[in-house]
Amino acid sequence: MPRIYLSPPDISQQDHAAVDAVLTSNWVAPVGPHLEAFEAALAKRADRKHAVALNSGTAALHLALQMLNVQPGDTVICPTLTFAASANPICYCGADPIFVDSEPSTWNMDPILLELELGERAASGELPKAVIVVHLYGQCADMDPILAVCERYNIPVVEDAAEALGATYKGRAAGSMGAFSFFSFNGNKIITTSGGGMLLADKASWIERALFLSTQAKEPVAHYEHREVGYNYRMSNVLAGLGLSQLDDLGRRIAVKRAHFEAYRDALGELPGVAFMPIVDPDAANYWLTCLTVEPVTAGSSRDQIIEALADADVEARPVRGSRCTCSQCFRIVRRLAGIARKVCLPMDCVCRVVRRWARRIVRRSSRLCARVLRNDSHN
Ligand SMILES: Cc1ncc(COP(=O)(O)O)c(C=O)c1O
Repeated sequence: MPRIYLSPPDISQQDHAAVDAVLTSNWVAPVGPHLEAFEAALAKRADRKHAVALNSGTAALHLALQMLNVQPGDTVICPTLTFAASANPICYCGADPIFVDSEPSTWNMDPILLELELGERAASGELPKAVIVVHLYGQCADMDPILAVCERYNIPVVEDAAEALGATYKGRAAGSMGAFSFFSFNGNKIITTSGGGMLLADKASWIERALFLSTQAKEPVAHYEHREVGYNYRMSNVLAGLGLSQLDDLGRRIAVKRAHFEAYRDALGELPGVAFMPIVDPDAANYWLTCLTVEPVTAGSSRDQIIEALADADVEARPVRGSRCTCSQCFRIVRRLAGIARKVCLPMDCVCRVVRRWARRIVRRSSRLCARVLRNDSHN
């Protein structure tokens, strides 16, 4: 049986046909009709007025911070529990990331801790230039109190919705709530363009400027004139064609991932020492990855032992990610590491096989439950 990967790309016959059609049209450079169509379709899905397609989510965040005028000496807040790409662009701008801890109920930025942090910073006259809020693993952060406190201090919010396409918060689309938002179409995401991202906002001038900066800041004149530093961040039209085709299939993808999450939870949710990432509203998440926390003493195995056991069975699982930064302000992250060290992501494939093998390994100390899991599994 082939190796089971954590979150492999899902490419359909329709995707092949879509890419073939773009190649046949010869619009293969980072310009063309599919880019505009992909931007319009994604903006509609995320309930945004404007969007610009880029070659990564990281590039999108970098441009958002540039437009918010983040500079050396500034600070930007972001959550502890996220991928490094949520914080790296802060450093590209020469600014310092300030990490605010995540709350257990959503695994996203804790609104109370954010309020405390902003209160302290306001008192010392050191308010951050922006707050980056991540919708981790396809579940939105608790945006209402976050937006309210940021509005009180007049700080723009950037939504890192890299993993959350199709998710909602109280009926509002992920990516529709901050001053800026962005998605990632990296190979492991819920839809992919192999690599890519999209920056969105409601203000047309911001997105026009992002497009300008993403295409080497070339002035709109016939000769090559550049008055400021730009970037090569634009998405290729071929990949926009793939993105359009994948976006068309988003509903099915969310349903498949939700079914995997529910199968894991039903099979393993009662095991001692195992707690799945809490889902606040089952109809609001996109279930991009299924993650859980393992209490090693109660479960009888540590996170790493479980990952190793799965690797022996040719199944890829990974630790949950957390930002780690070497700069002095980031010592706060240490508080979170104990929690992160117990969290694991499970693959989105072949649930039964994973459950069977894993259950055999980790529940030696609870044979009754193990037997139940295996019995249920064999009926699937
Ligand atoms: C939470 C988060 N933020 C940002 C990114 C960066 O996106 P990209 O890989 O497209 O640069 C990713 C994806 O890898 C992510 O998961």
